[in-house]
Amino acid sequence: MAVNRCLCHGVPFAAALATARAHGCATVAALQNFCALGTGCGLCVPYMQRALATGETDLPVLGSREMDLWTAMSGVVAEGRR
Ligand code: FES
Repeated sequence: MAVNRCLCHGVPFAAALATARAHGCATVAALQNFCALGTGCGLCVPYMQRALATGETDLPVLGSREMDLWTAMSGVVAEGRR
């Protein structure tokens, strides 16, 4: 099963990646100036950060270490970590 969208806001990673490229966004935090992806539960944030880094938009389910790595690179501060 591939993870390919923000479920909270129904934003496909492919569409978000196109938005990011159009606006020069390298992080999810920057992308959030242009779309709502990642502003709900936040589960999609590490997936989208990986999509920004690799261009992949159909992603495997990530393990906890990879989730932490990509989240740290996203520029998004998770609730409860502030
Ligand atoms: S799945 Fe993207 S904010 Fe919840």
